[in-house]
Amino acid sequence: MNIIVTGGAGFIGGNFMHYMVNKYPNDNIICIDSLTYAGNMETLEPIKDKKNYKFYKVDITDRKSIYEIFEKEKPDYCINFAAESHVDRSLENPEIFLKTNILGTQVLMDACRKYGIKRYHQVSTDEVYGDLPLERPDLQFDETYPIKTSSPYSASKASADLLVMAYHRTFKLPCTISRCSNNYGPYHFPEKLIPLMISRALNNEKLPVYGEGKNVRDWLYVEDHCRAIDMIVRDGKDGEVYNIGGHAEKANIDIVKIILKKLDKPESLIEFVKDRPGHDLRYAMNPAKIEKELGWKPSVTFEQGIDKTIDWYLNNKPWWEHIISGEYQNYFDKMYGYRMDKK
Ligand code: NAD
Ligand code: DAU
Repeated sequence: MNIIVTGGAGFIGGNFMHYMVNKYPNDNIICIDSLTYAGNMETLEPIKDKKNYKFYKVDITDRKSIYEIFEKEKPDYCINFAAESHVDRSLENPEIFLKTNILGTQVLMDACRKYGIKRYHQVSTDEVYGDLPLERPDLQFDETYPIKTSSPYSASKASADLLVMAYHRTFKLPCTISRCSNNYGPYHFPEKLIPLMISRALNNEKLPVYGEGKNVRDWLYVEDHCRAIDMIVRDGKDGEVYNIGGHAEKANIDIVKIILKKLDKPESLIEFVKDRPGHDLRYAMNPAKIEKELGWKPSVTFEQGIDKTIDWYLNNKPWWEHIISGEYQNYFDKMYGYRMDKK
């Protein structure tokens, strides 16, 4: 089997690359990533010598190059993680979000149509459903919940989802969509809440909490997300959307306090800062469909997952220190320039 994974040098895509390369030694796992600021070849370092791993530094909006890869690799599956993923950045510069997240999705699906595919899978997000009120803990998102987005990021992801459904209906493209809640775990870029707070607390820096820190997110350990996507791609039904969630809702301020406690750092590091404009209040996923139809369940509790994550950041300081220093951006040329010439 030949499996294309886009965005595999990022956080979730990187974890998925590790998962797939190790779990399926007889499948070829082919990563396509343009290495934006969020792409990091050091994330792929542990699998770089595996025989079933291949890497292309290509932008998913580059139609010509994407077609060439499809023609050469003849993928059975294409799983699209590549995206601009940070809400705050989408407030500063929406355009790149629309380009990568919508037009990039279109290019990949056009390639699937042109060269044939067993299944195109779109990695989407709970943010397409908008938010829920804090005072209604009884409410959750299921797959029929209306799309109602808040940020340019979530609007671009929802647009891509609609495009996927349109290609399924009109062109009969075999496809699935997964919508997941907030992930955390190894290789998470330190601009997002959990890795930002861990790395800054370790450096005794102030921890910026937006507003009053009461906003709630529903957390899932990244490996559980990877396992869910693998199950959907292989056993999910064409044209279906699957919600994925960890049954682990937490207010931001509680997460920050948990991290400080585990690192034995003082709460005086917390600094309440101006709120994110349009800040979604609460996300809460109902993953009953994937649990019932595919037998998936989260296997890591938040308490286990946050311990594993903190340990990982403590044991892998060079990985995040290179990001903070900017050194990771030279890594591709240093380590891969020579290898790419040989392929
Ligand atoms: P990330 O920002 O860590 O990684 C994105 C990766 O995509 C990077 O390696 C980047 O270089 C690559 N990329 C960006 N633009 C590209 C382009 N035009 N062509 C090729 N590669 C490109 O993101 P992440 O947090 O790992 O998220 C991965 C996917 O999962 C995204 O689609 C995101 O919307 C979705 N998602 C994320 C979360 C979360 O909590 N992080 C939750 C649900 C869904
Ligand atoms: O829900 C899934 C989404 O989760 C994904 O689709 C996105 O790609 C991913 O980035 C994430 O979006 P969030 O906006 O929820 O994640 P972020 O880590 O940016 O913020 C989590 C919460 O923490 C949010 O309420 C904002 C708050 N926050 C964030 C940062 C970076 C702070 O209070 N301070 C901060 O410095």
